[in-house]
Amino acid sequence: MNFEGKTTVVTGAANGIGAALARRFHAAGARVVVADRDAKNLEIIEKELNSIRPDSAFAVVADIGSEAGNVALIDAARAKFGFIDLFYANAGVGMGTDLESTDEETWNTAMNINLHSHRWAAKHLMGEWLAAGEGYFCSTASAAGLLSQIGSGPYSVTKHGAVAFAEWLSITYGDRGVRVTTLCPQGVNTNMLNPPDAVPGIGNTDGGSAVKASGVVLEPAEVADIVYNTIVAEKFLVMPHPEVHTYEKRKVDDRDRWLSGMRRLQARVAGG
Ligand SMILES: NC(=O)c1ccc[n+]([C@@H]2O[C@H](COP(=O)([O-])OP(=O)(O)OC[C@H]3O[C@@H](n4cnc5c(N)ncnc54)[C@H](O)[C@@H]3O)[C@@H](O)[C@H]2O)c1
Repeated sequence: MNFEGKTTVVTGAANGIGAALARRFHAAGARVVVADRDAKNLEIIEKELNSIRPDSAFAVVADIGSEAGNVALIDAARAKFGFIDLFYANAGVGMGTDLESTDEETWNTAMNINLHSHRWAAKHLMGEWLAAGEGYFCSTASAAGLLSQIGSGPYSVTKHGAVAFAEWLSITYGDRGVRVTTLCPQGVNTNMLNPPDAVPGIGNTDGGSAVKASGVVLEPAEVADIVYNTIVAEKFLVMPHPEVHTYEKRKVDDRDRWLSGMRRLQARVAGG
């Protein structure tokens, strides 16, 4: 895909990976609708991008954790810039720990934001994309969606769901012009990995300690560059940490051995 003159939407664009993606797509000549529930930082990104090219960015304060929030975002983006060439479902949360400590509301919120938001957005984009014979859906899942997330059941489950949904979307609509890319990083230096209220060890709401113990932490701009190149090449999977491929191969080759290794890592992280 060539980004020049295209309309893109990025959710979770007020911070971290989403802000870096918005900047990268904009630098390649795209119009960018930046969406987030963090209105303050969203306005900063919108202003920054519009100061480079007037009327090329549009901020929509949105809660994508509901179907109505996704519909409102897509309607606002279309009303501003017309046909949406690429929608990037990036917003996500690191919520929940184990079965004893995670209540239903937390599970449901994680499911809605990390997984159902992708389905709700795709559902409201697909009609227009199929009629046009083209459209590009991208998502940020996680290496946790290919492997697992030490310390967080909701994160592991929702990110596996996000990868599964992206694969299914590509299988089902790929021959009708819809392209799909999903991002599966390990550690990226954002608020999610370094939450201000983090508790070291397995009690972390985001499993940040386990992620940092597993390998290199990349900067959001580095990840955005790799995502951009993958979309230009129209490839499905973005795996910015090559070691994830090795871990995934080990998992597929011998699940029991891989599970033992993950338990050892969990014990190491819990030990601090
Ligand atoms: N940072 C990492 O190490 C890492 C690793 C793998 C995957 N990810 C994924 O990357 C994505 C981006 O996270 P990040 O690391 O940039 O963290 P971040 O916390 O900096 O950014 C997440 C953004 O999503 C927004 N958001 C959350 N819920 C929302 C909602 N309901 N409606 C609208 N906006 C909402 C937040 O306000 C925030 O701006 C997430 O999906 C996350 O799961 C992050």
